[in-house]
Amino acid sequence: MTKRIGVLTGGGDCPGLNAVIRAVVRRSIRHGGYEIVGIKHGWRGLLEMETVTLGRKDVMGILYRGGTILGTSRTNVFKDEETAKLAVDNFKKLRLDGLIAIGGEDTLGVAKKLTDRGINVVGVPKTIDNDLLGTDFTFGFDTAVQIATEAIDRLHTTAESHDRVLVCEVMGRHAGWIAAYSGLAGGADCILIPEKPIDVDEVCKMIWDRHKNGLCFSIIVVAEGAKIRESGADKEVLSSQKLDDFGHVQLGGIGQVLAKLIQEKTNYDTRVTVLGHIQRGGSPTAHDRVLATRYGFSAMDAVHSGNYGIMVG
Ligand code: F6P
Repeated sequence: MTKRIGVLTGGGDCPGLNAVIRAVVRRSIRHGGYEIVGIKHGWRGLLEMETVTLGRKDVMGILYRGGTILGTSRTNVFKDEETAKLAVDNFKKLRLDGLIAIGGEDTLGVAKKLTDRGINVVGVPKTIDNDLLGTDFTFGFDTAVQIATEAIDRLHTTAESHDRVLVCEVMGRHAGWIAAYSGLAGGADCILIPEKPIDVDEVCKMIWDRHKNGLCFSIIVVAEGAKIRESGADKEVLSSQKLDDFGHVQLGGIGQVLAKLIQEKTNYDTRVTVLGHIQRGGSPTAHDRVLATRYGFSAMDAVHSGNYGIMVG
């Protein structure tokens, strides 16, 4: 009897998602006896029963494509009991034998709760932020770092030409991985991460010291979740007060706040670049394609062995 296995991508998109979907489909064909059902727009597709059958041809030519062919959303099916019940009922109505959920902490949190209600789920970790427990690296991170590094390289030449301080704000939510890696790879003069509150005076001293040594430009990489010590070590800068379905704030704006303080304290010409969603778009690096393929392959193997209630990593 053919088994029907759902696959969905939830949360923020990330380069490499399509590589996972492709690997799941191809591995299922190798095992034989499976129909892969793509659930559109993350958990929202389960609530609305919006699905698409995925065969060999549907996943051709997607390995190098960013985003997700299934679409995604930040829908939380556990926001109330009625919605949670609907998700479980729809899983049954769709006659699914199992589900591969590709996502970050929120999507996988839902996956765990569905597991607790007897649904067969295998989780696949994804995020550019690289902040998931049980993983060394998540796919998407390497691509985001590559994009940010290229941006920092470009900022160097213009900063140097104008004798400017350039602040580059990168993503990463509450983790400093993207900032740390791209800052190191791009040779930033200062890297500011959420894990260590920013001492603005110390940053300014570093800039003055560089000037004293004849270096009249500086590159500062700041993670969006970084906090300024003086304004309260737990106070993040938000781009909106709106919370998503999972209660997350929208981070953004620390670069602007920091640049203003540096300009005021040092009187050096200071500008800001916010990389934003550019870090999540476009083609995955070779590293991310391989990691994502391995995750998809292993997730399908877990399904085939009936090894549900786990996350590959
Ligand atoms: O988790 C990935 C991420 O890109 C974070 O780095 C960032 O804070 C957030 O998602 C942005 O979310 P949205 O796409 O909803 O603006």
